[in-house]
Amino acid sequence: MLSRSERDTLIHNAEEYFKKIEELQKLGLICDDGDFVPSVHYPPITEYPDCDPEKYLSTYTMPADGKMDIYVHIPFCIRHCLFCHYPGMVGDRLEEKEKYLGYLFREMDMYLDRFGIRTIKPRSILLGGGTPTYMPPKMLDKFLTGLDKRIDYSAMKQYNVDLDPNSIIGDEGTERCQLMKDHGIQRLTIGVQSLNDDVLKIMNRPHGSEAAIESVYKALDFGFDVNIEFIYGHPGQNLENWMDVMEKAIALPMNEIQLYRLKVQAYGDRQGVINRRHRGYEEGDIPDFKQTMLMKAIALEMLENNGYHETLRRVYSKNPKIYSHYAYNQCCNQFDQVGFGLSAFSSYRDRFDINSQYFSEYYGMIDEGKLPITRGYVRTEDDQIRWAIVLPLKNTEVQKPRFTRKTGLNIDDLFKKKIQTLKDYGLLEENERDLKLTTLGAFVADEVCECFNSDEFKPFPRERYAEGPLNPYNDNVIFS
Ligand SMILES: C[S@@+](CC[C@H](N)C(=O)[O-])C[C@H]1O[C@@H](n2cnc3c(N)ncnc32)[C@H](O)[C@@H]1O
Ligand code: SF4
Repeated sequence: MLSRSERDTLIHNAEEYFKKIEELQKLGLICDDGDFVPSVHYPPITEYPDCDPEKYLSTYTMPADGKMDIYVHIPFCIRHCLFCHYPGMVGDRLEEKEKYLGYLFREMDMYLDRFGIRTIKPRSILLGGGTPTYMPPKMLDKFLTGLDKRIDYSAMKQYNVDLDPNSIIGDEGTERCQLMKDHGIQRLTIGVQSLNDDVLKIMNRPHGSEAAIESVYKALDFGFDVNIEFIYGHPGQNLENWMDVMEKAIALPMNEIQLYRLKVQAYGDRQGVINRRHRGYEEGDIPDFKQTMLMKAIALEMLENNGYHETLRRVYSKNPKIYSHYAYNQCCNQFDQVGFGLSAFSSYRDRFDINSQYFSEYYGMIDEGKLPITRGYVRTEDDQIRWAIVLPLKNTEVQKPRFTRKTGLNIDDLFKKKIQTLKDYGLLEENERDLKLTTLGAFVADEVCECFNSDEFKPFPRERYAEGPLNPYNDNVIFS
């Protein structure tokens, strides 16, 4: 147990760190109320226009080596969590799930036909949701077998599944773990979210802290690589109970811990319940910007003190060799990745698209023989340059030779003034091979990376940032 004085030191250090964050806000980097938009794709997902899937894909060619990472989305959950903005159905819904899987495989088959191949050859796979494992074991087996038929595993390095703890505990959970092992799944991301029962209740999670811990041990016993996810800045959390949660997390014998800052206002298409409930919230308000930043600083110090280091952004790992290949391939290597299922997206080397988020539209398009893509965009040359900076910078670093291979340009010739300013304020550093975030830059990674977004894709209007040297609208020309 952390002693009182250890807790006070953590809080004191976090308060000191927050002074630097406040300074960055005054210099224009962080918007007026400290809100943020996770920088996960470029251009941001909300900005993609409607498209006709046929026309949009008509100029697409598969990569020369024929490899594509795969994402499969299963939009079913036990309940809807307070914080979650993802579309999906809750409850057992066995018939709907059967129906959905039928359409999912039809969608995959349509892609195979279009690409003129019998199987897809991925480097990595992610099954996400929703909760892909929230199916009876027999159905899960049918689902994984259906995937096996359509996938050539010869080049695959990592098979990942995102799930919630409930789905792998108890006898059915054991069956599911065995099935996942039998189908070659190696790495599980478990949405623990908190290890405080009051907070889990406020989150409307279907599990308590005991079940969450049991699921972690179960996954480890089965020999999976395990990553657990937490949210900070959530109603019900305060510095004291957050330190307790981090202490419990660090005591688990595992490798990866992932921290998400609560996003209240959705940055995708669907606003989850948190915004509505927030208005009349009685059991405790949403922690403000300062409290949220203190939670982050405290967690980082605790993780650092216990041998964890940031591998991919917001993922803290004891063994840097274990990380999500799916995330690395998409954001750092920027390889082609194809997504299947409701609201799934595909991220290709020159374009990006996203499927319908409505079940009836998703089914209807497939029935009409169309791919269920509703929005898509082929990036311009300007977008390609910014995309090749924003994503790798956010997640690891911009490797200069890789950037040149992708764009034909030398990054040392681009954004000269902006890069210099970010370096002057201790947010970026570089050597011959890499341009990367400093420790301070990594703390505010979204904000630093969004400095490279074009003005039309900045997360907030100019007037919401102070008019300082770090205002993201300054010096925003590529060839400066
Ligand atoms: C799409 S969820 C799937 C996880 C899985 N269904 C579960 O509940 O455990 C992926 C992760 O995104 C994070 N997340 C979801 N909504 C969020 C929000 N509003 N703000 C921050 N993180 C969020 C959660 O940590 C969650 O585990
Ligand atoms: S966090 Fe996971 S379980 Fe909760 S609603 Fe979102 S996808 Fe479903």
